[in-house]
Amino acid sequence: MKWLDQRNKLTSALLFGIFITITSCVKDPALGDPILSCGTQFEVKIPASTPPMPIPSDNPMTVEGIELGRHLFYEKMLSGDNTQACAGCHLQNKAFTDENKFSIGINGFVGNRVAMPIANLAWSEKFFWDGKANSLEELVLFPIESEVEMHENVFRAVQELRETDKYPGMFYQAFCDSTITVENMAKAMAQFMRSIISYNYRSIPTLGKDLRNGAQQRGLEVFQDETKGDCFHCHTLTTFTTNFDFANNGLNADPSLSPGLAGQTGNPNDIGKFKIPSLLNLRHTAPYMHDGRFETLMDVINFYDTGFHVSPTLSLDLLKHTKDGKPVPRAWSQQDKLDLFAFLITLEDTALINNPKWSDPNE
Ligand code: HEC
Ligand code: HEC
Repeated sequence: MKWLDQRNKLTSALLFGIFITITSCVKDPALGDPILSCGTQFEVKIPASTPPMPIPSDNPMTVEGIELGRHLFYEKMLSGDNTQACAGCHLQNKAFTDENKFSIGINGFVGNRVAMPIANLAWSEKFFWDGKANSLEELVLFPIESEVEMHENVFRAVQELRETDKYPGMFYQAFCDSTITVENMAKAMAQFMRSIISYNYRSIPTLGKDLRNGAQQRGLEVFQDETKGDCFHCHTLTTFTTNFDFANNGLNADPSLSPGLAGQTGNPNDIGKFKIPSLLNLRHTAPYMHDGRFETLMDVINFYDTGFHVSPTLSLDLLKHTKDGKPVPRAWSQQDKLDLFAFLITLEDTALINNPKWSDPNE
């Protein structure tokens, strides 16, 4: 399988990387432990109600590492023909998702998956719609090598970075090592992506305390009401509107045609399960679902009412709204649905879209 090949390449890259890391470790006399990175520690700021940010011990976040990762995220040199950066499909002004339904890679290849927004990924344990990457460090290599995305060999990409004036110095500042490795490139980009945090004070930590009008306030109630929207089990508000899990939300009558997580785990219980996306910035993330099948949020709401399909792996949170293998219309009125819509679009974070820290450093 292709991704297993990629994994093997990653393992060799990591082994090589470990050698480099050991030779560049610095001893902290106070702790006696080797420090695995240089640079200035980055201070994470998150709302009080959010669980602490998990940061891998072998890739602590530093100001210099994040800045390097930002440059790499906007670096077209990482693609086969030097035309496509990560940011080409993950646009800041679209909440780091794509403006096309299906992303277009180099050579005009069109994929069959909607690009995913990049925010709050530090809390996630698996990545991509079907969970095929297990860490952000590992993930970085997938789009670079994917023939429908950037189609570049990572070792060649690293070689190109080595030949620049700019990057060896930036790698030195981030990792006390100016030798550019695949491992450090991946680490820097992972740090940058972890630093992208998006939330909405109005709706999330205070659970609606400051919603502006009655429709939005009622919409929050519909979202949380188990007889109406019943959305919160999967799109948990206190954790950035997702529980970071995978679920079958009933998109297909025969989920084996699009097996999702099961394609990675081989577990039949995972058939048709996809990553539960965040509902932040929905204004920018249409079309919706992994295959972009819904253009509007009202389509999505009507889907959860009576449009979803029952199958053996359908989530229990949806199965309870069915009878005899069919969805049962919920106890909500047309007004409730409009209120839910009004609430969903308050989950907007303009700071994500405008924050200069995450913008193109070349502009
Ligand atoms: C050609 C468009 C394209 C390019 C270029 C691209 N991506 Fe993506 N990205 C996508 C698509 C499409 C998905 C969803 C793919 C899937 O699930 O199969 C995705 C998913 C992701 C995710 C998963 C988010 C999550 O919640 O699990 C991350 C992170 C990501 N990309 C980062 C990157 C990085 C870093 C780069 C550059 C090295 C990059 N992307 C380049 C289109 C692109
Ligand atoms: C069983 C868990 C579950 C429940 C309950 C649930 N969702 Fe989802 N939701 C998902 C999953 C999984 C996806 C992604 C499915 C895919 O694309 O394959 C999703 C996708 C979405 C999307 C698309 C987001 C995007 O960027 O593509 C929206 C909007 C959404 N859900 C809103 C809601 C609303 C509103 C409710 C309540 C009426 C709700 N969800 C209830 C699991 C759930």
